[in-house]
Amino acid sequence: MTPRSVPVDEFDLVVFGGTGDLSRRKILPALYKRFCAGQMPGQSRLIGAARSDMGRAAYQAFVREALEEFANVDGSTQLDGFLDRLDYVTLDARGDTGWADLAKKMVPGRVRAFYFSVGPSLFGDLAQGLQKWNLSDDQSRIVVEKPFGHDLETARALNRELACHFDERQIYRIDHYLGKETVQNLMAVRFGNMLFEPLWNSQYIDHIQITVAETVGVGGRGAYYERAGAMRDMMQNHMMQLLCLIAMEPPAKFEPDSVRDEKLKVIRALDPVEPHHIQRGQYTASDGVLSFREDVENARSKTESFIALKCHISNWRWAGTPFYLRTGKRLATRSSEITVVFKDAPHSIFGPEAGRHNNELTIQLQPDEGITLDVTIKEPGPGGMRLIDVPLDMSFAEALGPEADSPDAYERLIIDVIRGNQTLFMRNDEVEAAWAWTDPIIQGWEARGDVPKPYDAFTTGPDGALQMVRRDGRDWRGIRR
Ligand code: BG6
Repeated sequence: MTPRSVPVDEFDLVVFGGTGDLSRRKILPALYKRFCAGQMPGQSRLIGAARSDMGRAAYQAFVREALEEFANVDGSTQLDGFLDRLDYVTLDARGDTGWADLAKKMVPGRVRAFYFSVGPSLFGDLAQGLQKWNLSDDQSRIVVEKPFGHDLETARALNRELACHFDERQIYRIDHYLGKETVQNLMAVRFGNMLFEPLWNSQYIDHIQITVAETVGVGGRGAYYERAGAMRDMMQNHMMQLLCLIAMEPPAKFEPDSVRDEKLKVIRALDPVEPHHIQRGQYTASDGVLSFREDVENARSKTESFIALKCHISNWRWAGTPFYLRTGKRLATRSSEITVVFKDAPHSIFGPEAGRHNNELTIQLQPDEGITLDVTIKEPGPGGMRLIDVPLDMSFAEALGPEADSPDAYERLIIDVIRGNQTLFMRNDEVEAAWAWTDPIIQGWEARGDVPKPYDAFTTGPDGALQMVRRDGRDWRGIRR
């Protein structure tokens, strides 16, 4: 198999917040890798824009350092070539400084993309500045990062503000989970195989679990996280997107609005969540790490670093099938997976002594991407018909070799912006629908003064999350170590 890089047009990518953390860790390394893959054609450039007063050479040195830290550039012969494609402008989003300089740097005829790698409070100023200084035309694109709002009201206000200056087809709202290769694979597995789709409904599926477990805490992002919590930071966006992809109807085409229409229908069909179907947790100090409350510097914090919930999608396909979602920080291991648990066979011809067996399909999103299907077979040996479940295990790394080394989500997403493909980006109505589902849950906690339950760091979260599933006669798949 040969990696294929589809050619893109010559472009100028302006990164507002070009000296920020996201730029250093994600955007610059991603573009550097695309440069190495030949996807910065002609004289395509990245122009950093930020308040820091520095010139082009200083920015190049800054980027070199970032790449040394976050991209594997050891011995690279391409690094200088990439640095040569960089430029920088000192710019004040809210004032006049730098805009005219930036305008002078833009080359007519190239694709123009403006990446707002800044806090949402500057989105409106930047959108306005681009128009005021004639930097954008109707082919230009803007890219905005999460968090897209803090609740429905603020998300709507942001959407309205951006809509004053740009068409929806020009706005790329990033949810980096959609750029992950394995997340896209969810669609390939579901809609590329005849095997699964006929069984993909409440008649054959007992329940679905989605787990995104992290070992990291919130240290360093305490102030943001204290206001967000796991619900806003992960559930409203990444988890919701995974849920959509696993539950949506087949879109007619793999095209932006076909896919996004189907995702939107899932979110809109979500029932409100009962308070006793939610478990929140907060990690405590252990194993040499600080507690959540120490990390966010608030000894009385009521913010959750863990959340597990059970939800239902009220539509023809999923009526009666629970979806269990959980995500948290400082858990036993870093592992994101989706497990589809099929129902038992309706009748066992082997009698009660053969036990109860069912199939489970697990899609491991990260790390060690792969798919496992548990299949029931006869236990080898004499002694009658005893059944056991064995995994049909496919690790992508083993099956695909070096091809399995998938590009970082940001590489895929940035190139999609340049290509003008919005399939993997969230539409305004999708984001608002997700907030409309999330808001009442958070308001309920606030009204009740709900306090998350403590859990030891590097475990599976609070006991309540286990109990919630056990009460239904089910169990979480273990968070793999
Ligand atoms: C971000 C969240 O969007 O996603 C972080 O703000 C979280 O809190 C991160 O750690 C997880 O992303 P990934 O790609 O490491 O699974």
